Amino acid sequence: MPEPFIRLQNVEKTYLTKDSAILAVDDVSFDINESEFIAIVGPSGCGKTTILKMIAGLVPYTSGEITIGDVRVDKPQTDLGIIFQDAVLLDWRDVLSNVLLQIDIRKLNKSKYKARAMELLNNVGLDGFEGKKPYELSGGMRQRVSICRALVHNPPLLLMDEPFGSLDALTREQISMDIQHLWMEERKTVLLITHSIPEAVLLSDRVIVMTPRPGQLAEIIEIDLPRPRQLNRLPEKFNEYAGHIRQIFQDSGVLELD
Ligand SMILES: Nc1ncnc2c1ncn2[C@@H]1O[C@H](COP(=O)(O)OP(=O)(O)O)[C@@H](O)[C@H]1O
Ligand SMILES: [Mg+2]
Repeated sequence: MPEPFIRLQNVEKTYLTKDSAILAVDDVSFDINESEFIAIVGPSGCGKTTILKMIAGLVPYTSGEITIGDVRVDKPQTDLGIIFQDAVLLDWRDVLSNVLLQIDIRKLNKSKYKARAMELLNNVGLDGFEGKKPYELSGGMRQRVSICRALVHNPPLLLMDEPFGSLDALTREQISMDIQHLWMEERKTVLLITHSIPEAVLLSDRVIVMTPRPGQLAEIIEIDLPRPRQLNRLPEKFNEYAGHIRQIFQDSGVLELD
């Protein structure tokens, strides 16, 4: 068994606003193993983004404990990559120098990381686009660039918050395949937040299903399907997993996922 890499123990988050206290995450505990691909699905406002930001050290938790590799998270973590819903690229930099942004900021050896940047771009089907400016790319291509940028400094952990949210269905499918390919090459530990049940089942080793706010764990489902998983050749078991997750939401009265 691999060692747990990330551990959330009885984590709670209450946001204090001017006139109220909002319990956003209520007593959540789970582990993520090294090199594991985990997805979190849950209704809008159940605390998914809050969990991701607490793991990244961007939002403090109210009680409980989060550790990454045995170290307690109490400040912004630098040894990880994060991807948010909209790719924020710098328009005056070309694709390659957008991917190398972290390298510049961290003052690392650029020539050493250039080959890695090119390899990542290649892995997501963007070879030949390294000299283009972001405004010359489609939304899906821009999001692929931001995935490469998050991985270029080789962090052991990748956090993705609804990275395909603003993309059309076909592009989502293509990028899902790219992410699967990248994961099989690099075996990073990945936490993916998504509102798509099929996407979660397609990509993950385990899917964490959350209840409506205040977010608690409804169930953690192990996805026992061989990889690479192919959209046009999904086994019957795939539909069973997806149906099971859908049923959990129906039972708790959740009609729409965010
Ligand atoms: N900075 C904040 N201040 C106050 N309330 C917040 C803040 N961020 C999130 N919330 C509230 O916490 C709950 C969970 O939010 P969030 O983690 O963004 O959910 P999700 O990503 O699952 O949609 C929501 O009710 C939201 O309104
Ligand atoms: Mg969110």
